[in-house]
Amino acid sequence: MVPSVVLMNSTSMIHTQELTKQFTVGKRTVEAVRGLDLTVEAGELVALLGPNGAGKSTTLRMLTTLIAPTSGQAFVAGHDVTGDPREVRRRIGYIGQGNGAGHQQRGRDELVSHGRAYGMSRRDARERAAELVASLDLSEVADRKVSTLSGGQRRRLDVAMGLIHAPGLLFLDEPSTGLDPQNRANLQQHLVALRERYGTTVVLTTHYLDEADSLAERVVGIDHGRVVADDTPARLKANHAGDRVALVVDTPGDADRSAARIGAAHPDAQVDVHGNRVNVRVAGGTFLLPRLLRDLDSAGVTVRSAEVSRPTLDDVFLNLTGRSLREGRAGTESSPLGVTTVHDLEVSA
Ligand SMILES: Nc1ncnc2c1ncn2[C@@H]1O[C@H](COP(=O)(O)OP(=O)(O)OP(=O)(O)O)[C@@H](O)[C@H]1O
Ligand SMILES: [Mg+2]
Repeated sequence: MVPSVVLMNSTSMIHTQELTKQFTVGKRTVEAVRGLDLTVEAGELVALLGPNGAGKSTTLRMLTTLIAPTSGQAFVAGHDVTGDPREVRRRIGYIGQGNGAGHQQRGRDELVSHGRAYGMSRRDARERAAELVASLDLSEVADRKVSTLSGGQRRRLDVAMGLIHAPGLLFLDEPSTGLDPQNRANLQQHLVALRERYGTTVVLTTHYLDEADSLAERVVGIDHGRVVADDTPARLKANHAGDRVALVVDTPGDADRSAARIGAAHPDAQVDVHGNRVNVRVAGGTFLLPRLLRDLDSAGVTVRSAEVSRPTLDDVFLNLTGRSLREGRAGTESSPLGVTTVHDLEVSA
């Protein structure tokens, strides 16, 4: 057994080693998280990206002390999630993937109640609620009953609830699932603003590739309970996926001939033929295209159209795992976000 003092990294907000969670369902063992090593520094905004069932929520639930790891270790905000769960909870906010209840309280009262649940005095909770309402532009939301708010307004209130006790670390499980593009954009701006204002470390999960790409400084790809990628979106795309060059030629015969020539000249390229279309996955596609067109022209192939697209995080995932993230999205679009309160944390720890 590794002594915890060896693992302890006081400068890191999150540090896990071989974090593992197995569930037993009937006679079957589900390996939800399999030896996950993850370090997040203070002030980072990290997105956990992965298909349905990858283990994202289970990871967050262990890090927030909602469920105990089967094995391995995790330190969050300097405390051991297993040995010191209360200290962890005091320092974190958690906005879960589950369904929030339809509350009859006003937004502002809901915020105060939440602060009280975290042990704040009524006065402190009121002051903090007023500060959050002002700084996160929630005045329109604060005086309405929570049950009357739109999905987007509700989520912005959820984020404020996660911040009521001024945690240094905020976990959000799929904060934008089910929101329309405008509300997603609003929520993203909201998250960026709260980091700027409070320096909060943010760890969120998402199915939205563009969200991970544009919002997060760092993307941790998770598949089958393991980390399969961990870097900035730009570096992941540069290192793990090439550009896509799509050519349309006159006939399927021309396409086959083109593919053979391209494959011979560029052994690193992945070349597929679909009818009279040739798709090439290759590094530096924009630079390669003119040469490629000249070569096909000299071989007597007429290229009708040519398009180069930059790789997406989906291409990265596909390259690393053989699976597209887009395949696993069905069924998750409408699950609303809810806030897990401190009561839930206490009961299930
Ligand atoms: N309480 C549980 N009991 C049994 N199996 C569970 C439990 N919670 C999660 N699992 C299983 O663990 C695996 C990981 O689930 P998890 O919810 O962590 O995935 P996820 O990445 O959050 O997926 P999604 O994108 O759909 O939210 C899945 O196979 C899931 O069915
Ligand atoms: Mg989940």
